[in-house]
Amino acid sequence: MHDQSIRFDERVVVVTGAGGGLGRAHALAFGRRGAKVVVNDLGGSASGVGVDAAPAEKVVAEIKAGGGEAAANYDSVESGDKIVQCAMDIYGRVDVVVNNAGILRDVSFHKMTDDDWAMVLRVHLFGAYQVTRAAWPHMREQGYGRIVMTASGAGIYGNFGQANYSAAKLGLHGLAQTLAIEGSGKGIRVNTIAPLAASRLTEGIMPPHLLEALKPELVSPLVLWLSSEGCEATGKLIEVGGGWFAEVSWERSPGAGLGPKTSITPEMVRDNWTKITDFSAPTHPRSIIDTMTALGEHIAP
Ligand SMILES: NC(=O)c1ccc[n+]([C@@H]2O[C@H](COP(=O)([O-])OP(=O)(O)OC[C@H]3O[C@@H](n4cnc5c(N)ncnc54)[C@H](O)[C@@H]3O)[C@@H](O)[C@H]2O)c1
Repeated sequence: MHDQSIRFDERVVVVTGAGGGLGRAHALAFGRRGAKVVVNDLGGSASGVGVDAAPAEKVVAEIKAGGGEAAANYDSVESGDKIVQCAMDIYGRVDVVVNNAGILRDVSFHKMTDDDWAMVLRVHLFGAYQVTRAAWPHMREQGYGRIVMTASGAGIYGNFGQANYSAAKLGLHGLAQTLAIEGSGKGIRVNTIAPLAASRLTEGIMPPHLLEALKPELVSPLVLWLSSEGCEATGKLIEVGGGWFAEVSWERSPGAGLGPKTSITPEMVRDNWTKITDFSAPTHPRSIIDTMTALGEHIAP
């Protein structure tokens, strides 16, 4: 057991979409533990319409009222460089980026417009890319960084009416996994959370008793741990909500090696389908090397 509490003194933390919901809870928690927090929020509606400085300003005031240090930023994550520049201008460094900003444009796929698709991809995936891309050189240079992406069960498992959101959210995990590899030698750790929490995005979707149990404050401890110096985990995907925390990873069936390798027919795939999709003795690949190894054993046993 660790007896030292997790602190962020002298650390500069950027939390996007921190004017409400989960982001606000994260920002307040960082502020309480000594971080200098850049509270970013565009302040628009749940579907991404409009702008308002008030949500970010209010959270900054709350952090300051608790004795913490914080600055507000109102740029869209689509201009991530401005958010990181704000951290550099005010605090001179950036140690942690929590990519949390998000909107919803839920609609069944056959009714989805290009705008529904593009807006959601722009805020979640391009936005996280922009903020992270701007912070990356600073983190590389200082040999230290912590990045948290915010995915969703909708991305991991699919969810009716959320094709745009699902694509963006699992995209974030893909991005995180490669950044985990590219950042490993530079002290940068990159992880993804898939939260469940009561917020304006979920009110009306979930029953009141469930919302009561899913306080955003119950997600923030995971974000703080993943953002802390003591956490060396990277490339992980963690489901979290209501005080429950669990890692999700890929599972693969042992598969079927079909031959002769030069002439495989669709019928052979059909006739081996049960074996190809048999998870009674699964493996748990952790890297692309594991796939190359499994493939290699088949090609040149
Ligand atoms: N609440 C849940 O159960 C749940 C589940 C899965 C994933 N998430 C994800 O968690 C994150 C936080 O969501 P929440 O539930 O707290 O909702 P929320 O609406 O309270 O918070 C999202 C915040 O992002 C801000 N924002 C939106 N577009 C922005 C932009 N372009 N630039 C800067 N800020 C912007 C909004 O103003 C808002 O304050 C989102 O990425 C969401 O997709 C939430």
